[in-house]
Amino acid sequence: MERWLLLLLLFAVGLLQARAQPDSKGFISIDCGIPPKTRYVDNDTKISYAADDGFTDGGSNHNVSPEYIDPLLSPRYYNVRAFPDGGRRNCYTLRSLVAGSKYLIRATFMYGNYDGLSKLPVFGLYIGVNFWTTVNITSPIETEVKEAIVMVPDDFVQVCLINTGSGMPFISGLDLRPLENRLYPQI
Ligand SMILES: *[C@@H]1O[C@H](CO)[C@@H](O)[C@H](O)[C@H]1NC(C)=O
Ligand SMILES: *[C@@H]1O[C@H](CO)[C@@H](O)[C@H](O)[C@H]1NC(C)=O
Repeated sequence: MERWLLLLLLFAVGLLQARAQPDSKGFISIDCGIPPKTRYVDNDTKISYAADDGFTDGGSNHNVSPEYIDPLLSPRYYNVRAFPDGGRRNCYTLRSLVAGSKYLIRATFMYGNYDGLSKLPVFGLYIGVNFWTTVNITSPIETEVKEAIVMVPDDFVQVCLINTGSGMPFISGLDLRPLENRLYPQI
């Protein structure tokens, strides 16, 4: 019985990792808030975006309000994952990285009144345990893009949204791109 459970568990972890792995170029491209286990190819960028269910446990998916859907806007902004529960800290785990390598991490946000409350949140972003930046949403229609270049000490990295008591954290998209190690020698 125990063996079967272990096998099942290993199988489940394997599935999760298969879904959550970088593509052949080492890219991870996530459209937060689309239906679980779906993916699509963006017509403009030709990049294949995956749903975020293999990367995070908490939160719930929402569409932005229809008035904020603009055909000129990237479909990544049409929906978000918001974190009403799960405490103060909710993380995405990006796996199968190369320890000691440099990566670009990009997080994108558009509020779009997804919750119908017209309350613009302010919240914190962390990479692992290190403070990255504050996301201060000042308009429902503006897109916020945060970028960081990091050297990852492990074969995974976590990007965490922290509720600072000023509204519910949410996220529209999350990307990871490998960088050549000789670039950005100051990192
Ligand atoms: C891509 O373009 C096709 C054809 O114009 C359209 O039907 C489809 O909805 C577009 N997909 C996205 C994700 O924008
Ligand atoms: C967020 O931005 C607004 C408008 O620029 C500013 O008034 C407010 O102090 C900022 N909040 C935080 C917590 O930085």
